[in-house]
Amino acid sequence: MTAYVVHPSGKINGSIEVPGDKSVSHRSMIFGAIAEGTTRVSRLLEGEDVLCTVDSFRKMGVTIRKEGKVWIVKGVGLKGLKTPPEVLYCGNSGTTMRLMIGLLAGSSVTATLTGDSSLNARPMARVIEPLRKMGATIHERTEAREVMGEKIRMIIVKGGGIRGGAVAIPMASAQVKSALLLAGLMAGEKVTVTEPEKSRDHTERMLKGFGARVVVKGRSVTVFPAERLKGQKLIVPGDISSAAFFIVLGLIHPNPKSRLILRHVGLNETRTGILDVLKKMGARIRVLRKKIVCGEPVGDLEVRPSALKGTTIAGAVIPRLIDEIPILSVAAAVASGKTVIRDAEELRVKETDRIAALAAELPKFGVSLKETKDGLEITGGRDRLKAAEGVSHGDHRMAMSLAVLGTVLAAASKSDTPTTRIQDTECIATSFPNFRALMTSVGAKISETQ
Ligand code: S3P
Repeated sequence: MTAYVVHPSGKINGSIEVPGDKSVSHRSMIFGAIAEGTTRVSRLLEGEDVLCTVDSFRKMGVTIRKEGKVWIVKGVGLKGLKTPPEVLYCGNSGTTMRLMIGLLAGSSVTATLTGDSSLNARPMARVIEPLRKMGATIHERTEAREVMGEKIRMIIVKGGGIRGGAVAIPMASAQVKSALLLAGLMAGEKVTVTEPEKSRDHTERMLKGFGARVVVKGRSVTVFPAERLKGQKLIVPGDISSAAFFIVLGLIHPNPKSRLILRHVGLNETRTGILDVLKKMGARIRVLRKKIVCGEPVGDLEVRPSALKGTTIAGAVIPRLIDEIPILSVAAAVASGKTVIRDAEELRVKETDRIAALAAELPKFGVSLKETKDGLEITGGRDRLKAAEGVSHGDHRMAMSLAVLGTVLAAASKSDTPTTRIQDTECIATSFPNFRALMTSVGAKISETQ
């Protein structure tokens, strides 16, 4: 198990590109695989989660290779997937498992999926139940593994039988929405999905780009049967969820001369809740050079240290920043006044229960916090904070949020000795393999130990 040790450092400065967007990267492989012709993808996120999606398609007969910096997918068409000879291992990736269950349900192949212990404990009924109502055949089986009595969940999808129709889902979830739309697309059936709040819309945008007919009306999306999708040339935007760690680092760093530029960050409306909330808290963030690339808005962000004040984060903005709540909680911890986070019960079923994990970790750093059923109440204030030893709970976004907090605390420290330590940091590789290298490149001092 690796750990980060955070050492005192000076100001933060630099212009960086964060890795490609995780959601867009998964979808580029999925639509590339089921399109006809070749799809070329630049700036794919080469994190473990996306590589699980790549590996699953290779097992189903799709040729995916990398030439220089470009990933090349030889699409097999909507009917061309082969029954995989092995179990599809989805690792830590909820997106791989949920989107793949939908896609397989609409196909004519049978496949078994599993994941790591975190993924095997996450709710899959949210995709399996609506898919069964649409005619899918999906079974679950639990196996006890020899080692440490761990239980592994196997999900067996026997493709075929999907009927179209309209489905209202009870939670705002791009994974559930995309799974149901994919089932319809693969089966040649028209499907409409309605959500209680709008979640990220990368599936809708990319499907249009690949030539499908997609109609969006408020919180409802309809995908019409398509004869074929056509391979595309894609450039993946930088992941705003990864940029978020640097945005908050740049804002709350104690050195007033700090300045960060984050280039080519995805600025899709369904993902920019973090910018809206931080601006409301008093953040000095400027968006520069905004343009559309492959159907997704992108731009550069300039971030400077800012005096943040507490706020309320609730309602329709929650799905627009759901993955950023751990790092927003760090921002709230240094802000003046109280921040209330509500309507975020979905955090309880992420890579870990993030509400419980934040409530366990942040107080170790002196943060005053109250856990509620659907969020947190954080009373901010730099003066009460102190360096500490934290653990990631096996969750990449927890690990990186604590590393940012540690860096800010180390910068304010008068001593030369290492201050914060974060245990169990391997998980960072699922979404941001070069996180520590980029932190170092802008001036943080973080070493890794076993
Ligand atoms: C994702 C959707 C979100 C998000 C996850 C990626 C996607 O999950 O938290 O990191 O790529 O569709 P939910 O759909 O479960 O909210």
